[in-house]
Amino acid sequence: MDGADSPSSPSAVATTTVCVTGATGYIGSWLVRSLLQRGYNVQATARDAGKASRLLSTFGRTGRLKIFRSDLNEEGSYDEAVKGCLAVFHVAASMEFNVYILSKLLTEEKVFEFAKEKGIDLVSIIPPTVAGPFLTTDVPASVQVLLSPVTGDPNLYPILLSVHSRLGSIPLVHIEDICNAHIFLMEQQGAEGRFICSVGSSTLPQLTDLLSLEYPYFSSKRFVEGFHDAILSVISSKRLTNLGFKFEYGVKDIIEQSVACCIKNGFLKCPITEGIHN
Ligand SMILES: NC(=O)c1ccc[n+]([C@@H]2O[C@H](COP(=O)([O-])OP(=O)(O)OC[C@H]3O[C@@H](n4cnc5c(N)ncnc54)[C@H](OP(=O)(O)O)[C@@H]3O)[C@@H](O)[C@H]2O)c1
Repeated sequence: MDGADSPSSPSAVATTTVCVTGATGYIGSWLVRSLLQRGYNVQATARDAGKASRLLSTFGRTGRLKIFRSDLNEEGSYDEAVKGCLAVFHVAASMEFNVYILSKLLTEEKVFEFAKEKGIDLVSIIPPTVAGPFLTTDVPASVQVLLSPVTGDPNLYPILLSVHSRLGSIPLVHIEDICNAHIFLMEQQGAEGRFICSVGSSTLPQLTDLLSLEYPYFSSKRFVEGFHDAILSVISSKRLTNLGFKFEYGVKDIIEQSVACCIKNGFLKCPITEGIHN
């Protein structure tokens, strides 16, 4: 936020313009839609403006949406998109796994320094695995990772294992809640700093049990050996909930809606029409 007041009434919202980077991505596309639904004017950025236009124009309310072509690797390419914006939701990121964590840490450090220097209220939201339904044509990477015990994807399942071994469980948040949290924090006067946004966690056996419940045609047993005595770790989102934020969706909803959306778009086979048996 640039230090101006947070919009607190519908008329203030209607005259407020915000920028969303990475608008073709999982979180970016959902966030653009949520902001438009609330009445904000949105300046959305994408590397491929055509792709963004095809995706975002399906949300309607296009009179309040402008799309800009911007690339993180091109200096100055966000200048136009952020002009006149009260807030910028920076969700674009290169998802190359080998440089991902380092680039996140360095970016956050630099951006906090910059915000302090310029007197900008900066919020850094730390999401766990984000899942649930999606608007993108491709299945988002985080949903694919979550469903990797079902698909058996040999590249993605190790990512889930690595989250589990680093954190002691797999913390989750629903896509709608993570977007609501972004907007909630923008609308909180003076909110700044880091906020964890996780509704709850599952150990791997708990997760595979839930997946089996939602997608009963998959056998979870082979995946969870060695994890049965895993103790659930707690990742606290208290800093966020203490401000009054409320999560709408629990872990079970997230799994249920991820599976349903993946069946709908053909990523998971429909057990009824395709006669899948264990
Ligand atoms: N989803 C999760 O579980 C999760 C968890 C923790 C943190 N996050 C963070 O949340 C943010 C969004 O994640 P997501 O799940 O929405 O990822 P995503 O679906 O992969 O979206 C990433 C977005 O960034 C864009 N992008 C990639 N490289 C770019 C570049 N060089 N210049 C400009 N844009 C570029 C992509 O554009 P293209 O469409 O052109 O590829 C896409 O719009 C990321 O910062 C991610 O680190 C996500």
